[in-house]
Amino acid sequence: MNQAQSNSNHEHITVLLHEAVEYLVLKKDGVYVDCTFGRGGHSKLILEKLNQEGRLIAIDRDKTAYEEGLKIKDARFKIVHAHFSEIDEVLEAKGISKVDGVLLDLGISSPQIDEGDRGFSFRFDAYLDMRMDQTKGITAAEVLKNIEQKELEKILKEYGEEKFARRISAAIIKERKEVGSIETTKQLAKIVAEHMPKKEVGQDPATRTFQALRIYVNRELEELQEVLPKILERLKTGGMMVVISFHSLEDRIVKQFINDERNRDTLPSNFPIRSEDLPKPRLNIVTKPIRPSEEEVKYNPRSRSGIMRIAERTAY
Ligand SMILES: C[S@@+](CC[C@H](N)C(=O)[O-])C[C@H]1O[C@@H](n2cnc3c(N)ncnc32)[C@H](O)[C@@H]1O
Repeated sequence: MNQAQSNSNHEHITVLLHEAVEYLVLKKDGVYVDCTFGRGGHSKLILEKLNQEGRLIAIDRDKTAYEEGLKIKDARFKIVHAHFSEIDEVLEAKGISKVDGVLLDLGISSPQIDEGDRGFSFRFDAYLDMRMDQTKGITAAEVLKNIEQKELEKILKEYGEEKFARRISAAIIKERKEVGSIETTKQLAKIVAEHMPKKEVGQDPATRTFQALRIYVNRELEELQEVLPKILERLKTGGMMVVISFHSLEDRIVKQFINDERNRDTLPSNFPIRSEDLPKPRLNIVTKPIRPSEEEVKYNPRSRSGIMRIAERTAY
């Protein structure tokens, strides 16, 4: 999310709320998993759609999000503080083997950005933490303490799509040598701003650097790559996987995964194998990708880069 796109009163405006839940919840008495609880926008609507037999397990690795989830007093609902790549352990602990649908609404929530002391935003001066799960892992400041310039450049280029990755990474390493460490959001934002060749309209020069570091610190792409095959194994036949991404790299991973599972029976026509022996597709694409409407983007500019993919588990 672009820093300027979050609202300032610590609320999170759920993206593609009705569209996601409509595709996800096909059985009122089903078992569902919301892997990214956030402030529970999707979870609350899922609960409204379920009857008394339905169940919803929510996951979030952010302690504050988890604590918000604990406030929902509903016997059909449980929240777990975990990384979604741990979905197997979460479900096993609840005695659940298969589910009817799983939702991923990726990225960061507005409260995470707006709580200045989390270090996600250059709008507030704070320690450069950037961990969604502050109970483990290393902070962005710690990353910047030891990282080699080449690797930093690669992170900025790949995760931030930063054209000036070389120049910015060199400046960061130079500052580290001169002053010892880069510990705060303002310190980092200042280095980036001073080394940008020209001003951009409507975007702070540090936006892409902050995004790149956040993705790296939180292993966001690795988490996604780990969870998708686990979701596939957990879905019942006809179960739905709904994924909302906000970054082209995330969306590429989701798209590739769905396509690979859907095209498992696609081999060259002269391949020496009988068609009944071919592996069968394990996912069907339910609809083409859905993007927020113009109206939604106007109301919630943060939704602008959202894209939702929906796939259904086949019988194989
Ligand atoms: C965009 S917000 C979700 C908003 C939510 N759908 C709502 O309507 O309130 C993403 C949430 O997912 C959490 N998250 C991101 N990656 C995660 C991961 N790998 N494991 C668990 N939670 C994660 C973040 O902490 C954040 O609270």
